[in-house]
Amino acid sequence: MPVRFLAAAGLTTFLTACAASLAAQVEPQTAPLQPEEASGYTEKPGWATRHFAVAAAHPLATDAGYKILKAGGSAIDAAIAVQMVLGLVEPQSSGIGGGSFLLHHDGQRNMTEAFDGRETAPAAANENLFLNPDGKPVGFYEGVVGGRAVGVPGTVQMLEDAHRQHGKLPWAQLFAPAIALAEQGFKVSERLHSLLVSDVYLKKDPVAAAYFYDAAGLPWPVGHLLKNPELASVFKRIARGGSKALMTGDIAQAIVDKVRQHPSNPGQLALADLADYQAKKREPLCHDYRVAPRDYRICGMPPPSSGAITIGQMLGLLTHTPAQAMPLMDGLPDARWLHLYTEASRLAFADRDQYIADPDFVQAPGGHWMSLLEPGYLAERARLIGPLRMTTAAAGTPGAVKTSYAPMPEQPEHGTSHISIVDADGNALAMTSTIENAFGSRQMVKGFLLNNELTDFSFTPRDAQGRPVANRVEPGKRPRSSMAPTLVFDKVNGELMMSGGSPGGALIIHYTAKLLYGTLNWELDAQQAINLPNFGSLNGMTLLEDQRFPAATVQSLRQPGAQVREVPMTSGLQAIQRTPSGWFGGADPRREGIVQGD
Ligand code: GLY
Repeated sequence: MPVRFLAAAGLTTFLTACAASLAAQVEPQTAPLQPEEASGYTEKPGWATRHFAVAAAHPLATDAGYKILKAGGSAIDAAIAVQMVLGLVEPQSSGIGGGSFLLHHDGQRNMTEAFDGRETAPAAANENLFLNPDGKPVGFYEGVVGGRAVGVPGTVQMLEDAHRQHGKLPWAQLFAPAIALAEQGFKVSERLHSLLVSDVYLKKDPVAAAYFYDAAGLPWPVGHLLKNPELASVFKRIARGGSKALMTGDIAQAIVDKVRQHPSNPGQLALADLADYQAKKREPLCHDYRVAPRDYRICGMPPPSSGAITIGQMLGLLTHTPAQAMPLMDGLPDARWLHLYTEASRLAFADRDQYIADPDFVQAPGGHWMSLLEPGYLAERARLIGPLRMTTAAAGTPGAVKTSYAPMPEQPEHGTSHISIVDADGNALAMTSTIENAFGSRQMVKGFLLNNELTDFSFTPRDAQGRPVANRVEPGKRPRSSMAPTLVFDKVNGELMMSGGSPGGALIIHYTAKLLYGTLNWELDAQQAINLPNFGSLNGMTLLEDQRFPAATVQSLRQPGAQVREVPMTSGLQAIQRTPSGWFGGADPRREGIVQGD
């Protein structure tokens, strides 16, 4: 353990004494834009079940998954039904116009697989996609709204691949709940209504305006019965013809036309991009995590997601600090723990911004992504964590390889939706799904919204010296993601302990890390861990969930040159954990999700 730590009680005093030397340093970062606006906080009870459970971001989606599980369907079967309903009732976050990652555990064969349905850049795109003619990057929403940022959607093909391997019920049956709801209508929720009120871009698309707003341009009120016959008919086509029905033919043509014919911000998507899309299977990225006396194995998505690596780094770095000996104080993490955690975050996000991008386009440092989680490397990096707060961390040299890449500048990342499911046969999954920004590119085609996932690439492709950013746009490339669907196993007996994940852009990483730390280190149940206030750093200021921490905690973290910003941090965590009598699920009080099961 590094000797540079002060005794716990002395930390605040020491930080105050050192503050003057930091006063001249200025943090470059601003607080991140929220992926989706906050829409209140509703206490959730947590749900105990015996045999199976499904957790999703909207009650109608959870119910669709529950009915499939009750009918004998597998976890994958349920996920398909859940995703189709989510795309209808929570259209701001995910849908068939977007991409997803899915981590699946086959309980019989004790095998975990990672399915990658991430969007890809069109073949005609290049690294200048988000640059103005003067070489400067366009404003974020100039990139988002329109056709420019629409990537090839991958969710349906990924689910189809997973179903081919792990489905029990017929594919077409899994679309029935979404088709019925789209035809008969669903009630506009408070969250959807409030997002429609605050969004300034969606109604500029005449198709979206006609669907989401009344003739006077007002969003449909809470409880309004919204029908989507066009989407019902697309669902029927996909139910009959699989992903081909979406990726070829007249639906694909409608997507391409919408993107290319946008009046002010067209994109380059072509029919061949859709027809050639390939969802991928990847090796899950798993690492050991010890909370004495227990040993866990935590599995997540490898790149193009940065989620699992960054979470693994933060947890690994903290094991080399006194953090693990620090309990919650009055039910909350205290300033000493938050200091250590946010310092670990800065180091991990520095590596993320330097190295992580689509593995089909960039080489992992040292030839393998696990170099970023190698215990010796993390021990060495953890020595940089001391009592004095870093302003920003620089990337390390994992795998002893010096990189020729430039670090990616900080950039907003946006909303998603998370699904966790365990079935009665011992199969489990964690799936995080996205159309990127709230309501994606704001382009609606045949009842569904197109993603703006390409804004997850770096708008700036090179630094001032001309060094390329690893996560720059290239044709056919997948943008780096923060999505972190996670499965936790007991390392000794291999038993699945938990499935979880969250939406929230780059903050997904912190929300999911909080779930893991809360359940594994602080031994909270999933609901209690989800309820904890959110916190983190993207390698700049310390971010704390607005009005959830005592003033004394905020004050002791707030030093000149080391900003603390209290902001809404709208996580949407969903998790299901094993208990001695079955399962216990939690859903985020900051969103509308629930858990159901038997
Ligand atoms: N667009 C959010 C993510 O992929 O992380």
